Amino acid sequence: MKTTSVYLNFLFCMITGLLIITGCSEVRDDFTMPAEAEFKVHPQGFENPQSENFHGTALKGANWNWTSCQECHGEAPMFTGGKSRVSCASAGCHVDREGKTKSVATCNTCHGDFRAAATDFYSFAPPRDLNKNTQTTARGVGAHQVHLRGNVFTVGIECNECHKVPSAVFEENHLEPSGANKVRFGTLSSTQTRLVDMDANPPRYNPDAVGPTCENTYCHGNFSGGNNFTPVWTIVDRSQARCGTCHGNPETGNPLPTTTQEGGPHVPGIFDCQICHWVDVDKPIARRLEDGTFVIEIKELHMNGAIHITGSKWTDW
Ligand code: HEC
Ligand code: HEC
Ligand code: HEC
Ligand code: HEC
Ligand code: HEC
Repeated sequence: MKTTSVYLNFLFCMITGLLIITGCSEVRDDFTMPAEAEFKVHPQGFENPQSENFHGTALKGANWNWTSCQECHGEAPMFTGGKSRVSCASAGCHVDREGKTKSVATCNTCHGDFRAAATDFYSFAPPRDLNKNTQTTARGVGAHQVHLRGNVFTVGIECNECHKVPSAVFEENHLEPSGANKVRFGTLSSTQTRLVDMDANPPRYNPDAVGPTCENTYCHGNFSGGNNFTPVWTIVDRSQARCGTCHGNPETGNPLPTTTQEGGPHVPGIFDCQICHWVDVDKPIARRLEDGTFVIEIKELHMNGAIHITGSKWTDW
């Protein structure tokens, strides 16, 4: 009887022991999960552009100084992984639409189209501005793309007509908040014509206007016979630049500049620009069509600083 109870006791202990061991190993499994989560170096959402903890926003707050990241992620600007083995490209993050890896120093990383190719110059400009806005009513976005890519009037205006363009990210005056000085007009915008004093009335960006405006630019009509129109940067619906706004009559859309009656060179009532404004007689700069509407035929020579009269180029008008 005694032997049996010793035996049963022994069995009971064995089973309890086993249960304890099994129990322990279950507890240990439970432990690995929180341990891994605690290992996260960065706050939740650090990789998510939608999160307020996004690393781009954090870097912006730190004046874009990414030297500290190199300690764990490898050398800037490629950040191939380093001891963290987490690289900017490996997770499919800093890559273009084709899947090609892009350096963090690419000109469309912090502003512009993040997924465009590193060499696509148009994509360096907003949209996406530095506050992640994409709508043209945001001043960081505004009329960028209609200027750059060309339109019915021009072949396109380059960045340096409105900005001092950095050749590298950490160049002086690039990353610092520059306010109104962000816009610095280039040579085309200040083209001097005979009847206008550009020095007294230079092109100016006015960020404080009801909508930010560009004043006195050659491009929008600050030239002999022009309207010196003041376009609003954040209205992108054609109303700020259509036939007649920069020269002529903005109400009717007729582009004929001031006439002889108004002290200009144009004969009142002669609206066929193609009679005089050509380089090659068959190829006028602009034409009035039979239905009375106007088209620019040679965009390269419209808004380029010179006028062209019956085969010759004029720069002193
Ligand atoms: C102390 C080392 C260390 C430093 C310094 C560091 N990181 Fe990390 N980073 C890591 C590790 C480890 C991971 C992977 C684990 C994690 O996500 O926390 C990581 C992950 C990331 C991720 C991916 C996040 C995710 O959850 O997928 C991004 C983005 C990132 N780091 C950006 C940065 C930037 C930007 C800096 C500099 C401001 C920086 N890191 C500095 C160690 C570091
Ligand atoms: C690390 C983020 C970052 C990268 C990468 C970057 N930029 Fe910028 N860029 C900025 C910031 C921030 C501003 C705005 C500064 C301010 O408020 O004037 C800016 C402004 C600009 C402007 C407007 C003019 C000015 O200086 O404010 C131009 C033009 C520009 N960047 C071109 C470039 C080009 C070209 C490259 C590639 C060589 C580049 N950016 C790469 C952050 C960046
Ligand atoms: C027609 C003039 C014009 C051209 C051309 C132009 N910009 Fe701008 N840019 C502006 C104006 C105006 C602003 C708004 C300034 C402000 O914040 O009030 C601006 C702002 C910016 C900003 C700052 C955005 C922000 O979030 O504040 C960047 C970056 C920039 N431009 C880059 C470029 C690049 C790159 C190009 C060429 C690919 C370019 N721009 C061409 C006029 C221009
Ligand atoms: C009969 C010939 C003639 C016709 C037709 C003509 N132009 Fe001109 N245009 C000129 C001459 C000459 C000048 C140079 C005047 C000067 O020295 O400023 C000129 C200059 C201009 C200028 C520069 C601003 C100015 O007034 O000097 C613009 C803009 C212009 N023309 C647009 C037009 C448009 C648009 C049409 C058609 C609606 C047109 N022109 C039709 C002869 C003509
Ligand atoms: C955004 C402003 C703007 C708009 C809109 C505009 N122009 Fe002009 N136009 C100019 C400027 C600036 C010049 C001065 C000459 C130059 O730089 O080529 C000019 C000059 C011209 C000339 C003389 C070109 C030459 O080289 O002799 C003609 C013709 C002309 N414009 C026709 C038109 C017609 C037609 C339209 C409408 C379809 C139009 N423009 C709309 C800005 C504008």
